[in-house]
Amino acid sequence: MTDALDGRTAMVTGAGRGIGRGIALELAREGADVAAVDTDSLGSAHNQYGDTEIGGYEAARELEAEIDALGRRSAAYDCDVSDAAAVEEAVEAAIEEFDGIDVLVNNAGIITAGFLGELEEAEWDAVIDVNLKGTFLVSRAVAPHMIDREGGSIVNVSSIAGRMGFGGLAHYCASKWGVLGLTETMAAELARFSITVNAICPGVVETAMWENVLTPFMDRPYEESVDSLIPLGRDQSVEEMGELAVYFASNPNVTGQAVAVDGGALL
Ligand SMILES: NC(=O)c1ccc[n+]([C@@H]2O[C@H](COP(=O)([O-])OP(=O)(O)OC[C@H]3O[C@@H](n4cnc5c(N)ncnc54)[C@H](O)[C@@H]3O)[C@@H](O)[C@H]2O)c1
Repeated sequence: MTDALDGRTAMVTGAGRGIGRGIALELAREGADVAAVDTDSLGSAHNQYGDTEIGGYEAARELEAEIDALGRRSAAYDCDVSDAAAVEEAVEAAIEEFDGIDVLVNNAGIITAGFLGELEEAEWDAVIDVNLKGTFLVSRAVAPHMIDREGGSIVNVSSIAGRMGFGGLAHYCASKWGVLGLTETMAAELARFSITVNAICPGVVETAMWENVLTPFMDRPYEESVDSLIPLGRDQSVEEMGELAVYFASNPNVTGQAVAVDGGALL
């Protein structure tokens, strides 16, 4: 534990589980307080399993205790990142509660898999809405506040699927390539306010996405996917994603970058 982010507040979306949870904990270990955004209910939308009740806020509430145990403050916000009004409300509440947001991590994301001819329009819409529009909506809500404070750091979670195509993931790849376009554009727009914008491209991290969607779709054990996709021969951890988020959040001279933590998958 160090104090690289001492006195700062980070908002992390999709913080209840998986990579978002790992990033939130790593930021807290480095000294940040955490506004943890996730949601229990998706209203009229759905996630990758067709569920509208997803229990993410409940998971983010449990994270509060873990962050408290690290000696940092945390609060959970029930917010679907694809819902503009809910996003505005959550960002306003977090700014009030923590007296500002210094770091934003746009991590919330969903995935489905299916070849082009079988991909439902609703699947396309859901994946683009959460992964790409959600990143835009939360950034749009937080950026004016960072501009007023003349500083901040935005970290977007893209994917190796934002740098190469994968059969069966047209909508997901499109969303993650879009996130990289958004990252570069926001970096260019916000640089004059001393706000950095960068992206993490995770390789293969064993979360619900792999367990419930990708491994069944690829019809082979998870370990075989790791062997075939990752030259360095092992999967990546949520802590490794958190370490890169800390790097971006604490280096004010690095912006517009997309860094893959992928064991060489893009080689
Ligand atoms: N797992 C991997 O191998 C991998 C690889 C590359 C990129 N990613 C990206 O990492 C990010 C996190 O994925 P993960 O693997 O941890 O998945 P996950 O399913 O374990 O966690 C996703 C979290 O986001 C939340 N969420 C989903 N929809 C939301 C919404 N509309 N509003 C708010 N929160 C919402 C979920 O409740 C959950 O807590 C995603 O953007 C994903 O695309 C993952």
